[in-house]
Amino acid sequence: MDKTCMNYILAEPYPAVSPQKPDNNAARRLLGSYAGPQGELTAILQYVYNSQLAPLAGAPQVGELFHCVSMVEMRHLELIGKLVLAYGGDPGYLYYQTPGRTAWWTGANVSYVKQPARMLRDAIAGEEQAIAEYRRLAGSLQDSGAKALLQRIIADEEHHIALFTGALQKL
Ligand SMILES: [Fe+2]
Ligand SMILES: [Fe+2]
Repeated sequence: MDKTCMNYILAEPYPAVSPQKPDNNAARRLLGSYAGPQGELTAILQYVYNSQLAPLAGAPQVGELFHCVSMVEMRHLELIGKLVLAYGGDPGYLYYQTPGRTAWWTGANVSYVKQPARMLRDAIAGEEQAIAEYRRLAGSLQDSGAKALLQRIIADEEHHIALFTGALQKL
C-alpha cells in the first residue's frame, strides 16, 4: 500500500481465516458480499473509477481518498474469497440472486457519476448497506473466528463512512 494511504487505514490486524465445515449456504451468502451488486468487487471498481474522475472535477483529495479506500476493499475481497473457499465454495465473480440462480458480476453494478459530492454520498450509502449485510451474515455464522473477521471488516467500513463524511464536509 502506498505511503499516503497509511493515513487512511486502521492499524488493527485481520483475524486469520480458519478452516470451516463445508457449508453451501454460508458460501452462497458470502458471495453476495463478495461479487454481488453491492459487494466488495463493486466497491473496488467503483472507488477506482471515482479516484480517476474526481481529480478531473477539481477534487484531487477525493480522488486520493477513493484510491486508498479501494485498496482496503481489495483486501476485503481477498479475505471474503478465502472464507468462501473455507466453506467449500468457489470465489468466482458471481452471486446468488435466489438459492438456485446465479448472476455474474457486471460493470453495470458501478455508478458512473462524475460529481465528487455525489460519489461520496453514494459511497456512504454503499458502506452502510455493506455493514448491514455483514451484520446479518455475522449473525448467521456459527464460527467465532469467521464472526471476528466480519466484525473487523465492519470496523473498516465504519471508518470509510467517517472518511467519506469528512471529505464531503470539506468540499
Ligand atoms: Fe469492504
Ligand atoms: Fe468500505
